[in-house]
Amino acid sequence: MDIEVLRRAPLFATLDDDAFRLLTDELTEVDLSRGASVFREGDQGDQLYFIVSGKVKLGRTSPDGRESLLAILGPGELFGEMALFDPSPRTATATAVSETRLAGLKNESLNTLLRTRPEVSAQLLQARARRLRRPNDSLSDLVFSDVPGRAAKALLDLADRFGRPATDGVLVAHELTQEELAQLVGASRETVNKALAEFVQRGWLRLEARAVVILDMQRLRQRSR
Ligand code: CMP
Repeated sequence: MDIEVLRRAPLFATLDDDAFRLLTDELTEVDLSRGASVFREGDQGDQLYFIVSGKVKLGRTSPDGRESLLAILGPGELFGEMALFDPSPRTATATAVSETRLAGLKNESLNTLLRTRPEVSAQLLQARARRLRRPNDSLSDLVFSDVPGRAAKALLDLADRFGRPATDGVLVAHELTQEELAQLVGASRETVNKALAEFVQRGWLRLEARAVVILDMQRLRQRSR
């Protein structure tokens, strides 16, 4: 397992080498291919997961069967921790969107760590607070922004976390299908495609398979406001 990715995860940054080694002894490796689910909304959960490599989408299904995406997470990020704070069913379905390697940590093991290392609880709470801030922003965006504005914002957010410099811009290999991208923006595939086609026509980005290259970050940022 690529332990170094976990070493850099904010949750473990404060641990000394001995504590970190004790913790990694408790981790179980899980390998998934694209489309494989880690758990489903409503399942009982007794562990949380760190992403070692790849990407995971967290989604919910409405009573009428429509899917929405809450987040796309990448290496170093964790999910499935709500079951630890509040032992209740999983609040979302977690699915791999590319070849993905996870490290699972049982609640029991984490609880032992939290008793001996209170600073880890502070980190865990900080991770939760960061995550709560994002849905609040998305909620106001749904009310106040139009679809192109939300699509621009979603692309910038993905670029922040997964973007890599390319010859003519920033390559964002988000790994999402058009349908999944639309679920993340919270609009139909047709409207999101129309917005993206307009950005392409204006020369702000280039579309690639499960990726975009952002050519004009500044204009996209202006459109997201
Ligand atoms: P848990 O409820 O155990 O399982 C589903 C996980 O999805 C949850 O823990 C969180 O880690 C994560 N999650 C739930 N809601 C959101 C959200 N709005 N944004 C990001 N992650 C979320």
